[in-house]
Amino acid sequence: MQVVASKKIQKVVVLGTGGTIAGTGSSVSDHTGYTAGQLSVQHLLDAVPGLQDSLQGHDLVCEQLAQLDSKDMDHATWQVLAQRCTHWLEQADVVGIVITHGTDTLEETAWFLQQVVDTHKPVVLTCAMRPATALAPDGPQNLLDALTLVCDPQAQAVMVVCAGRIHSARDVQKVHPYRLDAFSSGEAGPLGFMEQGRVRWCASNARPMGHALHAQARLALVVPAADWPWVAVLHSHAGADARQVKALVAAGVKGLVVAGTGNGTVHHAFLTSLGQAQAQGVALRLVSRCTEGQIVGQTELQPSTLGLNAFKARVSLMLDLLE
Ligand code: SIN
Repeated sequence: MQVVASKKIQKVVVLGTGGTIAGTGSSVSDHTGYTAGQLSVQHLLDAVPGLQDSLQGHDLVCEQLAQLDSKDMDHATWQVLAQRCTHWLEQADVVGIVITHGTDTLEETAWFLQQVVDTHKPVVLTCAMRPATALAPDGPQNLLDALTLVCDPQAQAVMVVCAGRIHSARDVQKVHPYRLDAFSSGEAGPLGFMEQGRVRWCASNARPMGHALHAQARLALVVPAADWPWVAVLHSHAGADARQVKALVAAGVKGLVVAGTGNGTVHHAFLTSLGQAQAQGVALRLVSRCTEGQIVGQTELQPSTLGLNAFKARVSLMLDLLE
């Protein structure tokens, strides 16, 4: 862990977790065969031109919390991240937090933090689609934008900034495997844009940015991650087989998020075994596997997962089941 601090009163904290933004390849043209999570967050900050301008006089503190390819993100790292965010945000002189993260599970981490970090201050996750060694890496610009955004007086809650667009934790989703602008907020649209070192909030965007703190938020900070309930995602699809549900239940799954077809329909092969799972105490949540819209007309759905993608619904259900 590395901490760099100087004398100014207000601080921005940057937490490093790895990802392509900290990745290195064997050549400048290598955009896919690189290794994620190689460079320290201090190194990334040192490589950003104009850093001091974007900080608007704020001091900078950085910590390396993990060095992961985010496909391998785990609950223990999430817990440390939530604890460190909470620790820093409780300090009056900290204006907000920037987190460098891989793109692959960034939306899950953002949604987790949105629900468990109790603050009105901004937490901005950023990333890159090209490694730091690329001829034209996107990480330095994204990091600069994140620092500008976190210092903006209107910024609050957990947001993601990538390729000049600002997304809410609830709506953001990675939608492309290699395009620089790999994220979308779907029908909701972005919260705003980064333009020439300034934030332009979407005037038409009336969504409240405040934190939607989960009722069990505190437990996520104190219950050992190894004891968090096992919640799995099950996709309904052509040729679905009940053995998949039965195997999960036999192995001790505590919750299942079922990504149903269309408006939340589920293959008949799953229905009986899902009913049995529920009768045995397995918690079920239904979402749509469609990338846009949300299930309509089913009154028994849990509002807490309505409109979430399956992977964010998994996070919410896991928090629901924490004890
Ligand atoms: C990762 O998610 O850590 C690797 C991929 C990326 O950051 O784009």
